[in-house]
Amino acid sequence: MSAFNEVYHVAFVHSESGNSFRDKDNMFGRPLWTKLDKRHHTLSILGNPDFEMTPVEAIAASHTPQVSQGGVGYGRGANPSGAKNWSLDINVIFPNFFVDVASGWYFTYNFWPLSPDRTFYEMKNYYAPPRNASERFSHEYSRAVLRDILHEDLHMMEQTQTGVTSAAGAPRHDILLSDSEVCVRHHMKVVDDHVRGKD
Ligand SMILES: [Fe+2]
Repeated sequence: MSAFNEVYHVAFVHSESGNSFRDKDNMFGRPLWTKLDKRHHTLSILGNPDFEMTPVEAIAASHTPQVSQGGVGYGRGANPSGAKNWSLDINVIFPNFFVDVASGWYFTYNFWPLSPDRTFYEMKNYYAPPRNASERFSHEYSRAVLRDILHEDLHMMEQTQTGVTSAAGAPRHDILLSDSEVCVRHHMKVVDDHVRGKD
């Protein structure tokens, strides 16, 4: 869950595919805004309005918003801080559910622990019913782009898990987290308090 709780990694894990989520003034994924509740939290993240789409992606974006299409406006309840150049809100509901709200569509994650080192990860996209073939194409294009981005995340996670569980050393408990990863810190604190019965 932590890997989807920040955008600091985008510049590295998604150095090609994630360029719509950063710009020259915010290259390393500082959240536009965060709100930490007792157990849940939200972070709003950047969309670069100057991101240069491929020709096909631009055609798709002319029909419905794309995952790469930042700064195209937002519906009521999204972008709570009214941040400029907003792309989406990452809403994390304790203990295992994400609702990521973008402009005109949203997607969810569920994480189901199977064992200490295995998790069933479930992701779903939600769009308004397409009114014509062009909108259907646009939805599918955005879905495919996001799928490829998430594959990069999942590949990184498998490599990380291999390293953590390798014979190279004991599992580490001293990973340093930056301010841009404040929601990772918050979630870890909430989980730790819950497991220890302190909440
Ligand atoms: Fe990612």
